Amino acid sequence: MRSLISIADLTNDEIEEIFLLADGADKLRADRVASGQIMATLFYEPSTRTRLSFESAMQRLGGSVISCSDMKASSTAKGETVADTAKVVSSYADVLVVRHNWDGAVQAMAEHADVPVINAGDGSHEHPTQTLCDLYTLRKEKGELKGLTVVVCGDLKNGRTIHSLVYALARFGANVVTLAAPGMELPQYVIDRLEREYDYAMGPVASDDLNAVVTETDALYLTPKQPHQLALFTQVDKVIQARLNTMAIGLRYDAFYMTRKQKERIKDAAAGDSYPTIGPNFLKEKRFQDTVVMHPLPRVDELSPEVDHDRRGIYFKQAAYGVPVRMALLKFLCRNLNCVTLKEPISTQRGLAMYFADEIGALIMRCAYCDHRFKIELVGHVKSKRYCAYDIAFAETIRDWVRHRELAGFDSIKQAEELGYEPYKTGPQRVLMEEAEINAALNDLSEQILRDCQDIDRLTILGVRSVGSRLAQRIAGEIEVRQKRKPELGEIEIYGSGDEMKRIAPADPDAGPLNLKDREVILIDDVIFTGRTVKSALSIIFRSGRPKSVRLAVLIDRGHREIPVKPNYVGKNIPSSENERVRVKLHELEQGDRDQAVIYSIVNPSDDAGTLLRNEERAALN
Ligand code: CP
Repeated sequence: MRSLISIADLTNDEIEEIFLLADGADKLRADRVASGQIMATLFYEPSTRTRLSFESAMQRLGGSVISCSDMKASSTAKGETVADTAKVVSSYADVLVVRHNWDGAVQAMAEHADVPVINAGDGSHEHPTQTLCDLYTLRKEKGELKGLTVVVCGDLKNGRTIHSLVYALARFGANVVTLAAPGMELPQYVIDRLEREYDYAMGPVASDDLNAVVTETDALYLTPKQPHQLALFTQVDKVIQARLNTMAIGLRYDAFYMTRKQKERIKDAAAGDSYPTIGPNFLKEKRFQDTVVMHPLPRVDELSPEVDHDRRGIYFKQAAYGVPVRMALLKFLCRNLNCVTLKEPISTQRGLAMYFADEIGALIMRCAYCDHRFKIELVGHVKSKRYCAYDIAFAETIRDWVRHRELAGFDSIKQAEELGYEPYKTGPQRVLMEEAEINAALNDLSEQILRDCQDIDRLTILGVRSVGSRLAQRIAGEIEVRQKRKPELGEIEIYGSGDEMKRIAPADPDAGPLNLKDREVILIDDVIFTGRTVKSALSIIFRSGRPKSVRLAVLIDRGHREIPVKPNYVGKNIPSSENERVRVKLHELEQGDRDQAVIYSIVNPSDDAGTLLRNEERAALN
């Protein structure tokens, strides 16, 4: 069983394979490859292209479609959960295609469905099948994806098509320039994932380095580590149209990917007032003469109809490719009903070969008979009867289990536990700092911060949510006691998809959002180890204004560092290793009666495999 929730669920090779199938869509139609299969479309949000092209694709493949014309007229209106809906409908259909207004809802449904689930757009999160259409169109127009420069424009914060697209462009080695409407920049979690999973690094550059794409001297960009690729993620300009007008002479722009303002997801009606548009002026620019204009559609007023008649306007083609691409995807994902293992199981051993799709950090199993592939989310060790989520860090261990036929794969925790597997456990905890020591450290940090502070009126204490934010509140309290006035206080959210920074004090609603321009910022976190969290926080800070200075205070420094950041203030140094975790437990967050910092070890799955392999356990492999 294989679902498609994120574009990261497919390897580049698999995407190429889907494109090959799409090129031969006429043959898929003639062969009626989905004959006898049923697709259910569950659209909790409006759609024209995605829904109708999926329905057309299934019918052209010889399959049939069941649907709710309006989810508000389904039992959702009576309060049925997405989990129950998925469970029930998966007993009526062979594949579910779901669009939902909640981020992550399709993933949740896939966890409860017994058939593959395809994400047709979830909130402002991802829209992977749109990305397949976008890449297919780009490749048809430009020959290959590697080395292309694509400018993504508009609402990069809420536009789910953008999030899936930039991951894919990064993977295929295209350059990406971001031109966000003010306040609609690419979310930090997207940038973080590009860094973490696609090996991009972010750094400040002078505008000259960007060939005058931007005028600021503190623009940020992401670049993959391989030197042959250059990917640019620039910061938003205040006047977007001015930026479009000053686009670099030296850079070749292959495509502008325009998006509409996602009004249905925006609380602030005034957001995106200065929204980029593409119209007749763009067409007249000589340097854009080979730049194609793309749009996932629907458009509102950001893309002028005058572009429709120009050879560069390829968005209707992009929509038309929705049918062959989705035919190819359905053929690719759905269970191969023609596989000999199902037609005549007695003649086969139902063997699954495996390979690692390192580029997406996933574990994929392949049917040894028909070559169809399955993504494995949870892995188990058949001897010790333990399971855990697959992690690329376990790659060597898992290879070893496969060699010894000791690997089991599960679709869900429920399945693993029903088969008698238990989760891997962590080692015992040891207390590193008791409450009195934590309080003394916070007093000390507050004193040092005040000693270095040049102007208390310009001081902003910014805590990383959630433990760092609580520590920041305590430090702000200490400073208030000493100075008889409270410094400005805020909170920074690294892993959220909404507001990345919010004001805590002064709480006055008229104070407006936090503005860090010319402020002395003290960033507070509980523990520093790799330095990645701090790096993400710094990138959020620099995107929201140019502070006078930023200093870092941490309660615990674990000593190892992947990223060269050094805290200015440290409560306690506690050298610890990669397979250990240090946690700061605060009574406000843990509902305990005292604060504590503890350390414990993570048991590597390979250390916990002990008992003899039994024959029936082997069956879990096959
Ligand atoms: N591009 C896209 O998702 O269009 P629909 O909302 O019409 O499906």
